Amino acid sequence: MLKGKNALITGAKQGIGKSIAIKLASQGCNIGVNDIIKDEFAHETIKMLEKYNVNVSWHKADISSKTETDKMIDNFIDKHGAIDILVNNAVSSIKKPFLDITEKDWEFEVGNALKGYLFCSQKVANEMIKRKTKGRIISISSIHSLVAADNNTVYGICKAGINRMTMSMAKELGKYNIICNAIAPGYIDSRPLREDKEYLRAGEGYADEAKTHIPIGIGGVPDNISDLAAALCSSVGNYINGQTITVDGGLLTRFPIPDLEQS
Ligand SMILES: NC(=O)c1ccc[n+]([C@@H]2O[C@H](COP(=O)([O-])OP(=O)(O)OC[C@H]3O[C@@H](n4cnc5c(N)ncnc54)[C@H](O)[C@@H]3O)[C@@H](O)[C@H]2O)c1
Repeated sequence: MLKGKNALITGAKQGIGKSIAIKLASQGCNIGVNDIIKDEFAHETIKMLEKYNVNVSWHKADISSKTETDKMIDNFIDKHGAIDILVNNAVSSIKKPFLDITEKDWEFEVGNALKGYLFCSQKVANEMIKRKTKGRIISISSIHSLVAADNNTVYGICKAGINRMTMSMAKELGKYNIICNAIAPGYIDSRPLREDKEYLRAGEGYADEAKTHIPIGIGGVPDNISDLAAALCSSVGNYINGQTITVDGGLLTRFPIPDLEQS
């Protein structure tokens, strides 16, 4: 179903974005890789994508700038002819206690983690409407949109905003056959690792304390997110709209304090 579709993924040089790009390419989808940095990981990702014999384009842009993202989406359409799938994934965050957050921190984080998602989605939706494309827009949220943790107030606010934005987009864009959903990952070991070190992913030393709170006792890997993203772009996602789907091994089902009734 994804053969010949055109997908743009933000923040895709590494981590979860890279995994989504590879998963979609492996199903025949042409890929636009966006990131703010072009480094060795970006080159490696592009090389890996090209092995799938799909059209691959590179788009260096800062998603917090509407001028840059408008240009990026125009360039993507020039190269691919249309856009069928947008995955809003890029993020930069600042970890700080609530009492220390500055106006500059707020503007930086809201800029890339919320404003960027909204204006990329808006421009892409307009392009889809223009071409009557039955599009999919997926935004990567977080379990931190649903629960509070230390030092991530603004990140959590942005992710909660993404969940809500997804509902509005689903409501207003449904009549154009554009389906919008969000994915809220839990602990996903998204470190860029060399191929020979891949066996370390989510293993011992990664989120060991958190794993004791995850019912299935393991950390997540980027494939856990990209499998769902690809499914949402396929016929599996034909009737799923406006949802934020948590992918966390069951972490949020669990009350983290020992159960007093049982002790
Ligand atoms: N890894 C996790 O455990 C986890 C958990 C919950 C949610 N998430 C979400 O998943 C998504 C991907 O996370 P990841 O762990 O792969 O992160 P990552 O840091 O490995 O990748 C993020 C990418 O975004 C790029 N980027 C940052 N700011 C940008 C900007 N302004 N414009 C363009 N590109 C920019 C970075 O250069 C980087 O390549 C994020 O939205 C994150 O909030 C991750």
